[in-house]
Amino acid sequence: MTGIKDALGRPLRDLRISVTDRCNFRCRYCMPEEVFGPDYPFLPREKILRFEEITRLVRIFSGLGVEKVRITGGEPLLRRDLPDLIRMISGVEGIRDIALTTNGTLLARFAGALREAGLKRVNVSLDAIDDDIFARMNGGRSAVRPVLEGIEAAARAGLKVKINMVVQKGVNDGQILPMVRHFRGTGHILRFIEFMDVGNNNGWNLEQVVSKREILERIHREMPLEPVNPTHYGEVASRYRFRGSDEEIGVISSVTDSFCSTCTRARLSADGQLYTCLFASEGYDLRGPLRAGESDEEIEERIRRVWNRRRDRYSEERLHDAELRHRRKVEMSYIGG
Ligand code: GTP
Ligand code: 5AD
Ligand code: SF4
Ligand code: SF4
Repeated sequence: MTGIKDALGRPLRDLRISVTDRCNFRCRYCMPEEVFGPDYPFLPREKILRFEEITRLVRIFSGLGVEKVRITGGEPLLRRDLPDLIRMISGVEGIRDIALTTNGTLLARFAGALREAGLKRVNVSLDAIDDDIFARMNGGRSAVRPVLEGIEAAARAGLKVKINMVVQKGVNDGQILPMVRHFRGTGHILRFIEFMDVGNNNGWNLEQVVSKREILERIHREMPLEPVNPTHYGEVASRYRFRGSDEEIGVISSVTDSFCSTCTRARLSADGQLYTCLFASEGYDLRGPLRAGESDEEIEERIRRVWNRRRDRYSEERLHDAELRHRRKVEMSYIGG
């Protein structure tokens, strides 16, 4: 395998693929209702990559060192026949891990088919275990229960489950401990995510971030924790276990303890734009070349060129660079987080 490195020496290992920019939630920190209303210009169908096109790109990326693929959205389960895509990607040589990030509401319906298609694991977003708080955060789109049912269906189908909770001070930080208590003993790994300044509409400010340190302290006071070594290079979450058990939690600290120096992730939007950072302003079009009939080698060369000159490390720079923070960024629902 001919792995490639970027300008800061980081290999290309993961590809996060957004399969739709639509979502059935309106989380305030991601797709606030006022912005993503009935008139929002979502991607028209003809611009969205077909499964064959996505799979072809995965094959090319795999030749460049990608081993891990994540399907995201928007809400990826809104994309029709998604299990077919999972099956197609599972068949690509060199891909050893396929995962899905979802809000869980449609998981009860699809878990069995996803597992059968070759999916091994899902990460389900759930920001609160209290219905009112959860509804306030997701724009009144869902109670907690359908998500819990999705999680249970996934586990029953044999999928490994992680739960992602974005922590926003004054909004759901009171839910940290209730969430830990709820998920302890279930075998699902709960991960806390520092609230990030993604996109242009989420009203971020530093005061709303609960730091990794504070999250850990709050849990540790009630349920003592100890660190666990990372399993692989470039892992996003730092891992901890409850002392004296093998039950784990994780914290994703893009704000107070960033992980750009080992960032091996490329992102592909639903319309075939390649992004080299979650906070990028611009992508590189791959759909055009794909549809213009370029060969695999030509497309591979394009990706290689983009990756070779990549210098992104937004999370390391944001705190001392106000100008960078105010630059226009890609939307999270479009690029998939
Ligand atoms: P695992 O493979 O299970 O470890 O998943 P993951 O943490 O890589 O992916 P997931 O989709 O569950 O993302 C969890 C959180 O990490 C989300 O808030 C993502 O936006 C964030 N995240 C993932 N990759 C990056 C990254 O490269 N940079 C930043 N800043 N955040 C990231
Ligand atoms: N900060 C941190 N995480 C976010 N996510 C969405 N928006 C943000 C944000 N502003 C999370 C989702 C999902 C994952 C893909 O990214 O909740 O778990
Ligand atoms: Fe919420 Fe995820 Fe949908 Fe964004 S994509 S609105 S974070 S469920
Ligand atoms: Fe990678 Fe950009 Fe996230 Fe840093 S901020 S870890 S470079 S995606």
